[in-house]
Amino acid sequence: MCGIVGCVTAGADAPRILIESLKRLEYRGYDSAGVAIIKDGAIETMREVGKLSNLESTLGNSGLMGGTGLGHTRWATHGRPTEVNAHPHRDGSGRIVVVHNGIIENFRELRKELQDAGHEFASDTDSEVIAHLVQSNFSGNLTEAVHASIQRLQGAYAIGVMHADEPELIVGARKDCPLVVGLGDGENFLASDVTAVMDQTTTVVYLDDGDIATIRRESVAIQNAQGEPVEFVPTKISWSLSQAERGGYPHFMLKEIHEQPTVISDTLLGRLDEEEGEVRLEELALSDDDIREIKRVNIIACGTSWHAGQVAKFYIEQFARIPVDVDYASELRYRSPVLEKGGLMIAISQSGETADTIAAMRMAREAGCSIVGVCNVIGSTIVRESDGTIMTHAGPEIGVASTKAFVSQLVALLLLSIKLGRVRGVLTKEDVQEHCRKIRHLPKAVESVLQTENHVRKVALKYVSAQDFLFIGRGVNYPIALEGALKLKEISYIHAEGYPAGEMKHGPIALLDEKLPVVAICTKSAIYDKIVTNVEEARVRDAKMIVIANAGDEDIKEVADDVIYVPEVDEFLSPIINVVPLQLLSYFVAHERGCDVDQPRNLAKSVTVE
Ligand code: G6P
Repeated sequence: MCGIVGCVTAGADAPRILIESLKRLEYRGYDSAGVAIIKDGAIETMREVGKLSNLESTLGNSGLMGGTGLGHTRWATHGRPTEVNAHPHRDGSGRIVVVHNGIIENFRELRKELQDAGHEFASDTDSEVIAHLVQSNFSGNLTEAVHASIQRLQGAYAIGVMHADEPELIVGARKDCPLVVGLGDGENFLASDVTAVMDQTTTVVYLDDGDIATIRRESVAIQNAQGEPVEFVPTKISWSLSQAERGGYPHFMLKEIHEQPTVISDTLLGRLDEEEGEVRLEELALSDDDIREIKRVNIIACGTSWHAGQVAKFYIEQFARIPVDVDYASELRYRSPVLEKGGLMIAISQSGETADTIAAMRMAREAGCSIVGVCNVIGSTIVRESDGTIMTHAGPEIGVASTKAFVSQLVALLLLSIKLGRVRGVLTKEDVQEHCRKIRHLPKAVESVLQTENHVRKVALKYVSAQDFLFIGRGVNYPIALEGALKLKEISYIHAEGYPAGEMKHGPIALLDEKLPVVAICTKSAIYDKIVTNVEEARVRDAKMIVIANAGDEDIKEVADDVIYVPEVDEFLSPIINVVPLQLLSYFVAHERGCDVDQPRNLAKSVTVE
């Protein structure tokens, strides 16, 4: 996820306007930033690694002025966060520049084709192909060149494009990534979201997928994917700036919960080959022979990522039949684990900087294991020190309690497990094809869970004064019970425990009374009847039962005080669905208790110390 901005103005103030706009998009990524300004018939570009403030001081000292420009703040997906990989990217002539948010899935193929035609590339990014493509299609009309170029792009994009020959023009286009045009008085703007233009204007046009906007100082024209003119109706923004930064949501956590359908799509992008019955994980760095020879998998992680590891144990054992151990990194590093050559270590970390996980990884390296990092931050230590990686493409997560990053980890680990299973011959081509079909349905299923938000809120309000909560689940949903309990603890400060439902009678059953709410994950599974029995056991001891069940399960109402229905999916996909109502439940309980949902006390987003 990156942020893009553009402006066509009368004065010479574009650098300042772009920087101010980018500041509001820094939540979309902040590993490097850049601007390009048209000046005296040429384009001048400035890029800096790190936070936007670095670019701001370089620009401030440069004296660069101009009225038309593009800017970008980057969340790296392809290519490390270096200056060369920072946007804007140029074509070979340096007369065309592009800023891009999204992922171009077929960039390797396009790059090869363009290189064969003589184009020289400067960066490792997928985005640079767009600049070269536009140049190869340009014959005097930038909008037409962009239109021809996007026909070749597969994947997701929001782009801004400029040509040095057109000092008062920027062209924007989008597919599956947000893009708005800001309408000013004798000046117009382009941005990834409205927050970026709100200092300049509150009148915007939301572009639709396939739209191309031709933005000049005095006019804006929009055409659709077929090249036909679009009659657009501007929207007047009534939000305050601080609301707008959170996309209108009261907290980043709620916004991030709602981003999960998109995050799942992004993490799947380009990785499911349904036709061939294959999962493609290009940066895994394990050959098929390596995969066939794996004797054992050790998963290490901390916090929420450790719960993703627990789900992955189910996945890998089920789909690839490889034995899996899951350890807290802080535990593994201080015992004498059996780590051997031929073993595979999977290090899961949204930040890529967790000190214990890094230390445990280094132990595995010493022992001769291969290491795969499952991570959300490209260029982070865990990514750099792993042999192979699976990036999770959740975009920056601002809320300290992890939600969308967790879901993206589950998706990435599911893909890895299916890949391992296919290569080792446990899964047939047909099995993988069927799994792919079901996995593709996930974003829609999560969307429909999000529609239960009001009901979850009502349920949450009934239990805000509880002092303790118990979360129970079984099988692949046991780690989800753990995650539900952790989420509630982290943000509401209510004591909560996750337990495998079958273990209840070995201890926690002694706690049950009418003051204890029990959240039971009771969706359809091979052992559905057993967990219903566990729910009944708790219910007859007067516990208040909040049950997550599949839509249509009417009988469950008999043993529940409150039911939250979610769509029925195959059991292996159910953790990705079931965690969502638990996130919402925690959010509403914490919010109602007046807690600082996004920045809970004593916690940090990234724990870089032991
Ligand atoms: C902190 C965060 C958690 C996170 C854990 C592990 O405790 O607050 O949300 O799950 O660290 O972080 P990692 O970046 O390694 O996933």
